Amino acid sequence: MKKLNLSIGKVPDQAVRIGAVFLIGIGSMVVLRQRFIPESFGELGHYRANAIPVVAGAPLHYAGWQTCGACHQDELDKKLEGFHRTLSCETCHGPAYEHAVVDPTATTPTVPRGRETCLTCHGYLPSRPTGFPQIIELQHNPMEPCIKCHNPHNPATEEETPACSGCHGQIARTKAISHHSLLACETCHVTPAEHKENPRQYLPKKPTNREFCGQCHGEGTPTSGTLLGVDLSARDIPKVDVETHGNTYLCWQCHYPHFPEGK
Ligand code: HEC
Ligand code: HEC
Ligand code: HEC
Ligand code: HEC
Ligand code: HEC
Ligand code: HEC
Ligand code: HEC
Ligand code: HEC
Repeated sequence: MKKLNLSIGKVPDQAVRIGAVFLIGIGSMVVLRQRFIPESFGELGHYRANAIPVVAGAPLHYAGWQTCGACHQDELDKKLEGFHRTLSCETCHGPAYEHAVVDPTATTPTVPRGRETCLTCHGYLPSRPTGFPQIIELQHNPMEPCIKCHNPHNPATEEETPACSGCHGQIARTKAISHHSLLACETCHVTPAEHKENPRQYLPKKPTNREFCGQCHGEGTPTSGTLLGVDLSARDIPKVDVETHGNTYLCWQCHYPHFPEGK
């Protein structure tokens, strides 16, 4: 019977080699630590204590919105009551430490009157959170500065209930440059007041027949006075024979009512 060898015996070669590697590693770390770890490291925590005065000495750029109110209380009050309450003043006006703390007359912050600043946050991007107010730049009052209609410090528009154009902007802008520019939306759409609050529940009426358009365009209809709130003498309204013109089709099967074309 063979005798079991339980003594440790000879340490295998590979263990000796790996041990040596570890020893060299630990040894060089101890030596390098002495040479390369900055002096004040660890004095106050796991960082270089000397870094504090270096960071504190760096030039300041932002003053924080709390400093602005001392001299611009009106703007601050306005901002705090509106949709922009969570924005810092310097988000739009840029870093203003020099101005707010050192000397207000030496430098004045930038005043972003163009559209660009607003579009950084409000330009349409599908990845923005649902419900965040966004606009499509080319459709929302193009070319006009946003601050013409929105106060940047409290941007909700003054109107209590929005105009038709607030929600039907594209139709409104199309009509505004058409032959029907004189006609108010309500000329053709009797609109319940509730539509502006609860639009899908309370729908406005739409013209339903050819005679509706014929009131102004039928042959022999009046050319002066007012009809549906429109001054008939203000424009030369073209007339057609409603009985025959366009057969029996509805007028808007051929003429887009918000941009009608006749010739
Ligand atoms: C110590 C008072 C003081 C503080 C604090 C102060 N401002 Fe002013 N600010 C002024 C004065 C005074 C003017 C007018 C300077 C001028 O017309 O030369 C001014 C003008 C401005 C203007 C208008 C610049 C222009 O071209 O019309 C803006 C914007 C402005 N400050 C933003 C800020 C912001 C943002 C802060 C806070 C970070 C701030 N201010 C803090 C005093 C102050
Ligand atoms: C959303 C961007 C935005 C924020 C946030 C903002 N402002 Fe303004 N601020 C503007 C714009 C744009 C104008 C120019 C308005 C104009 O010309 O009608 C302006 C104008 C000013 C003016 C000059 C007023 C004048 O008529 O010359 C001052 C002062 C000012 N802001 C201070 C502040 C202060 C203080 C805060 C923070 C409480 C602040 N703003 C926050 C965009 C902003
Ligand atoms: C740094 C981002 C930022 C910038 C820049 C910014 N806004 Fe806003 N805006 C917001 C936030 C945040 C709200 C509030 C959204 C909410 O309450 O859901 C808001 C709300 C609004 C609203 C209210 C929308 C509503 O529901 O009625 C309007 C209008 C608006 N901003 C216009 C502007 C205009 C004009 C400018 C440029 C002068 C501007 N914003 C610049 C972030 C920004
Ligand atoms: C000619 C006037 C006018 C101009 C210029 C204008 N707006 Fe408006 N904006 C409005 C009106 C009116 C509304 C609708 C008000 C409402 O529904 O409460 C509106 C609504 C908004 C809303 C809210 C949209 C929503 O879904 O709730 C945002 C955001 C907005 N505008 C941002 C801007 C920005 C940014 C600019 C410039 C790039 C701008 N507006 C230029 C008149 C204007
Ligand atoms: C608050 C936003 C809002 C306002 C303000 C608004 N509408 Fe609407 N309107 C809507 C919505 C939403 C619909 C439904 C669209 C749909 O179902 O596709 C609608 C539908 C309509 C329709 C179509 C009805 C149908 O049967 O298809 C007409 C016409 C209309 N609106 C006219 C107007 C007129 C005129 C005004 C101004 C007096 C106005 N709207 C103001 C949001 C609005
Ligand atoms: C000359 C009369 C007339 C005027 C003015 C008019 N509409 Fe219309 N509108 C119509 C007719 C007719 C339809 C039905 C078109 C159809 O059924 O195809 C319609 C349809 C609509 C619809 C349903 C969706 C669509 O595009 O077909 C909406 C929304 C609407 N109008 C909104 C408005 C708004 C907002 C205004 C003012 C800016 C306005 N309309 C001005 C005659 C008019
Ligand atoms: C309240 C009166 C009124 C009503 C109702 C009315 N229109 Fe008009 N229409 C006008 C006026 C005003 C003009 C502009 C004439 C001009 O610009 O010289 C016009 C112009 C037109 C033109 C001619 C455009 C051109 O190229 O010269 C057409 C087509 C037209 N309307 C179609 C319609 C249709 C379709 C309806 C019904 C949905 C309708 N109108 C309802 C008043 C009205
Ligand atoms: C089948 C298509 C069709 C229908 C439906 C139709 N039109 Fe027209 N309409 C036209 C065409 C095409 C023209 C331009 C050529 C012409 O003058 O006959 C025109 C021209 C017009 C003009 C301009 C006439 C001029 O002298 O400048 C008016 C106004 C007009 N239509 C109103 C109406 C009204 C109102 C209705 C409904 C009662 C209607 N149309 C139905 C096709 C149609």
